[in-house]
Amino acid sequence: MVRNIHEATEFLQKRGFEKPEVGIILGTGLGQLIDKVSIDAEVSYNHIPNFPTATVEFHKGKLIYGSLGGKKVVVMQGRFHLYEGYTPRDVTFPVRVMHKLGVKHLLVSNAAGAINLNFKKGEIMLIDDHINLQGSSPLAFLGVEHLGERFVDLSAPYDTDLNRKIEKIASENKITLHKGVYASVLGPQLETRAEYRYLKIIGADAVGMSTVPEVIVANHLKLPVAAVSVLTDECDPDHLKPVNIADIIKQAGIAEPNMITLFTELIKQL
Ligand code: HPA
Repeated sequence: MVRNIHEATEFLQKRGFEKPEVGIILGTGLGQLIDKVSIDAEVSYNHIPNFPTATVEFHKGKLIYGSLGGKKVVVMQGRFHLYEGYTPRDVTFPVRVMHKLGVKHLLVSNAAGAINLNFKKGEIMLIDDHINLQGSSPLAFLGVEHLGERFVDLSAPYDTDLNRKIEKIASENKITLHKGVYASVLGPQLETRAEYRYLKIIGADAVGMSTVPEVIVANHLKLPVAAVSVLTDECDPDHLKPVNIADIIKQAGIAEPNMITLFTELIKQL
């Protein structure tokens, strides 16, 4: 693993990925932020040594390096999901590479369903805490102690200083920003009505199929991380309509400009 990280990092450095300060992971349907980046270099995931290869066709699957908000950033356009068959270690490998490239902060986004019915689709939720329902951990492997502490503390997995800044930016820009608990499930199937009821009872405000593995690894690396969910549908078990993934992607795109404002303004302050 250490050698694999080193190889991927060296490869990217040779292609101009010089000392990025911030890493960004863009979730499903969230690609417009790239238009704001002044791009210096980009590489398809399938060209990067030891990277998992991109499969979900609506993800462009590229690592991008450039400037945003006056900082050098490295952006993952599209991420890897456990539901595609990747292991938790595969899914989080890019986080380890971004850290090795030198990023000091990680910003993560995802598309999620609203479990808290006070939250509406098209709004954004700042993730304050999470519940891992994926049945796995990206730290459960032999030799993890060579990369950091095995029993990683998650008493405050989302950086409080970053979150405070994001909340301030939201209020200054009149962006509705909820704060809550994100539950990660394996997917790829969406939830049943009984599962939505269960998620509400256990304290989730939003549900999605990503983010938690990357956040666990960021904590393993002591890399401050913040994450936002773009709410794409309302998961009301008593009035549940079939959701379709095309709608989810479309909704994500509609809400994305606010997410872009939050991230761009935050990066200026880092
Ligand atoms: N579940 C329900 N709704 C969603 C999800 C999910 O995992 N992701 C985006 N909308």
